[in-house]
Amino acid sequence: MEISIIKGTGRYVPPRCVTNHDLTRWMDTSDEWIVQRTGIEQRYWVPEEGGVGVSDLGLEASKIALERAGWRAQDLDLIIFATLSPDLFFPGSGCLLADKLGLTTTPALDIRQQCTGFLYGMATADAYIRSGMAKRVLLVGAEVHSTGLDVSTRGRDVAVIFGDGAAAVCLELTESDAQEGVLASCLHADGSLAESLMTYAPASRDNPRISEKMLQEGKHYPVMDGRNIFKHAVRRLPEVAGEALEKAGLPLSAVDLFIPHQANMRINQGFAKALDLPEEKVYHNIQRYGNTTAASIPLAFDEAIEKGVIGPGSTVMFLGLGAGVTWGAVLYRFPA
Ligand code: ACO
Repeated sequence: MEISIIKGTGRYVPPRCVTNHDLTRWMDTSDEWIVQRTGIEQRYWVPEEGGVGVSDLGLEASKIALERAGWRAQDLDLIIFATLSPDLFFPGSGCLLADKLGLTTTPALDIRQQCTGFLYGMATADAYIRSGMAKRVLLVGAEVHSTGLDVSTRGRDVAVIFGDGAAAVCLELTESDAQEGVLASCLHADGSLAESLMTYAPASRDNPRISEKMLQEGKHYPVMDGRNIFKHAVRRLPEVAGEALEKAGLPLSAVDLFIPHQANMRINQGFAKALDLPEEKVYHNIQRYGNTTAASIPLAFDEAIEKGVIGPGSTVMFLGLGAGVTWGAVLYRFPA
């Protein structure tokens, strides 16, 4: 049977660490409010003066993942780049990354599924591999949020949660009859909730796509109905976890570690409570990175591997809900 196995992972965050205390210089907020409501203590942001795009962060994470897989960039059949903060409106960041990796013909696909970008990316990589369209896929999740945040008090509900960062995984076609590799993927979307978390401009439906008036009104900053997203997350995450387990024919107890999207510590604690999971089965690193959206799940995954929390034979569930809204789960088992 043809299956998809992860051969290498890598992560990269920019060096500028921004603590909750730092944020109080720009907006009316407090370390206490942010920690209590979200669990976040600090995040990493690209240099304030600009010049670092999401493909630059993706490149650093990709180099590590490729090295750990023992691959050269030239070995890749496909690049999948998940981000909501592309370097440019177009072309996609996957093309820019391919260029930075020295590739001139390798196909590159961008995924715009926000917090579930990594989940959609895993499902897509797995489908390409199992259908015979690719043998070696590089999947990158990366964000540069900080250059698009309203760091005044007007934008504080959104600005405090987002961090910059990137992570990458290398997936390879493997022949195996064991129940391992990508075991199940479940993806969902409900566009009727799009306005719960969105950035209005620039938008092709407006002519011009962005104007001085829109800039003054802050239409280029993300807006979020945090409570509504929160409510949907605590309902949908346990539901989709059950769906993925059912698809794979596995019980809840078969999962060694749940790696949820790091959007809010309280959402993930609510998820653990709903499924009656012991604390150590749900991975958190939001304290140190904030919400890095498409990068958050692979960043936590890479960190959990490095810490030895998971390894050969472990079964991991990746899951999340975010803008779109989109939600999903992917179940993965390392070869023993
Ligand atoms: N500092 C201090 N006070 C603040 C801040 C801040 N940074 N932000 C908001 N407040 C104030 C509000 O103005 C409000 O004041 P009021 O009661 O006087 O009106 C009060 O705090 C409560 O605001 P809420 O928005 O109701 O706070 P809540 O407890 O819902 O927390 C949060 C907000 C953290 C954003 C939460 O709703 C959340 O995490 N939601 C889910 C986010 C999520 O999962 N997003 C999806 C992933 S991201 C993606 O897809 C790209």
